Amino acid sequence: MLETPENIQKLVDLLANNSNEEYNAVLNDFDFSTIDFKPYQSWSSKKYTRNCLYKDLNFELILLCWEHGQETPIHGHDGEDCWVYLLEGEMKEVFFNMDDNDNLIADDSQTVETNQVTFMDDSQGFHKLKNGHDGRSMSLHLYAKPIENCESFDEKSQQFVKRSLNFDTNSDKY
Ligand code: SIN
Repeated sequence: MLETPENIQKLVDLLANNSNEEYNAVLNDFDFSTIDFKPYQSWSSKKYTRNCLYKDLNFELILLCWEHGQETPIHGHDGEDCWVYLLEGEMKEVFFNMDDNDNLIADDSQTVETNQVTFMDDSQGFHKLKNGHDGRSMSLHLYAKPIENCESFDEKSQQFVKRSLNFDTNSDKY
């Protein structure tokens, strides 16, 4: 029986040996019950946390921990591909695009359930994620390639600003 770090390595190896086209299937087929995420979690009453499990030049795996009500700003993905596997809880995802007058409008939404994989890239516009259900949620984000900055909508100025995506914890030691 493999331990958690070896099972994270197993997932990393699968991703390294497959192309982006296969990532949806890799995440859907992977047995996440073999990974104990507790040592990698961190929680904050102020904002959702970003906890790096693995990062190289091609992709990064980040564990996001969401208290009730916590959400991202509306944001893009800097030209990269983004998969989300919801490990625990329930999330609301809202999609945004520019209308003919260059106003940002919400044009679609979905509820993301536990064990569901979602995909997002800039061709679909912008999105935001919110943990709107009663308890905590936990999601695993795969970005290929890694995203260091993204366009993020600032509600105050009603403009997109550049946002740096930092890690709250980093366990990338495999
Ligand atoms: C993030 O990685 O902080 C935002 C989540 C996302 O891009 O979907």
